[in-house]
Amino acid sequence: MRRLGFAVVIGLLCCGRSLFAADVTGHWRVVRQTDDGNSLETFLDLKQQGSKLIGILLAGWGDLQISDGRVDDNKISFTVDVASNWRYAGEIAGNEMHLTQYDPNAGAIPVSAVRMPLQAVAPARLPVPPLRAVLSNGLASTPPMGWNSWNFFHDKIDDSTVRQIADAMVTTGMRDAGYRYVNIDDTWEGSRNANGRIRPNKKFPDMKALADYVHAKGLKIGIYSSPGPKTCAGYEGSYGHEEQDAHTFAEWGIDFVKYDWCSAFRIYSDSEMRAVYQKMGDALRESGRPMVYSLCQYGKNDVWKWGKLVGGNLWRTTGDIEDNAHSMFSNAEAEVDLAPWAEPGHWNDPDMLEIGNGGMSADEYRTHMTFWSILAAPLIAGNDLRNMTPETRAILTNSEVIAINQDVLGRQGHRVQKHGNIEIWTRPLAGGAVALAIFNLGLTDTSVTVGWQDLGISNVRSVRDPWARHDLPAAMAEYSGTIKSHDAEFLRLETGR
Ligand code: GLA
Repeated sequence: MRRLGFAVVIGLLCCGRSLFAADVTGHWRVVRQTDDGNSLETFLDLKQQGSKLIGILLAGWGDLQISDGRVDDNKISFTVDVASNWRYAGEIAGNEMHLTQYDPNAGAIPVSAVRMPLQAVAPARLPVPPLRAVLSNGLASTPPMGWNSWNFFHDKIDDSTVRQIADAMVTTGMRDAGYRYVNIDDTWEGSRNANGRIRPNKKFPDMKALADYVHAKGLKIGIYSSPGPKTCAGYEGSYGHEEQDAHTFAEWGIDFVKYDWCSAFRIYSDSEMRAVYQKMGDALRESGRPMVYSLCQYGKNDVWKWGKLVGGNLWRTTGDIEDNAHSMFSNAEAEVDLAPWAEPGHWNDPDMLEIGNGGMSADEYRTHMTFWSILAAPLIAGNDLRNMTPETRAILTNSEVIAINQDVLGRQGHRVQKHGNIEIWTRPLAGGAVALAIFNLGLTDTSVTVGWQDLGISNVRSVRDPWARHDLPAAMAEYSGTIKSHDAEFLRLETGR
């Protein structure tokens, strides 16, 4: 009682405006209604110190620190430190808060929060299966090629846009260049019915009909889920429904499943990832429909050592790519020691392409494609194919560059020399050919001379520039020239007599 009296006196003396200023310390469930009919929940753990507010927001993919938090009477505001900084502001009404989330990418979004007595952010833990090797599905003998909705559209993806993308895959020549998969990423999910069957949300009225449409264009269709209860965007994941979801995907006619760790981290440790991914690997095989299995857990726990053993065809080796040269180079460089783990059917994945999304120059996008080709990386375009410049289209569809990426030997290239910002990578190709890429990761144009002999390449009988699609003098024994900042020299050397 003495303490309460003290608090009231302080309230009267120092704040003046309210006898009972709000104290939001505690756990809150935050709900956002989406246009697609979902109620997405996140959680807040808050601690109020006078008018200062600290805490964390527990999102589908991680715990995010709050900064600049303030409580003044019944007014609350704080920022969540993600790349784009979400600002929240609103009013406190007892055990409820009415907030607006200002997201630079999405604008003002109303959200409500309710105080919770106890924090239950994840369901009870389900056991994981004993480890064993899942049989390979025989797919992806060369790195998968296709398109994915996330990099450009994020949550603004729906049935009609996917159909238009499928149309554009054909009309732009992407399909004929080898791109086959049209992959729907996060935010297609709705709720489960009484039997636990996952339903798409309002944006995707009929997944089977959409799959039929995509198939009729000579293309394949992919979908996305998470081993956690929620996806990274907070939508329904496959936790506890792995077999059921694999069957549903098979019934819809799905050909490719990206499986994203996200909220699984609230239930399982990183060391259990293999068992968790094996569960879906088994479920996909047992569904009876061949589906490419794409592991997305950001390269944690040396996934390249066990990705194949869970039935994976490709596995992400890094966090998310961003549309800038620094991110593109850093994702590529993360694979510098990973060549031994790539082989037909099983590929290291430095993430989807950003080519055409506007954050890099044409030279940088060409370098992006060159790097992904020398790495034998999956080529999953991430731009709006309906509105491509001729330059973007030319970069994505260069048949000679794609031929290097898709080389049937299935060996990933590796870095053979590094001199400051100049890196020399080679990739062995079928028939004794070698792809050679010289990258300039630096900010200044740099002169480079590289002799074939110095790289251990002998008996070169022809030299071709795949970007320019022309032959260079067969007798040349070295490359000597200036490589512009963030540019690359890409050559295909045929060897033998
Ligand atoms: C993670 C993945 C991305 C994308 C988003 C969707 O960040 O790494 O590729 O799938 O989730 O929420």
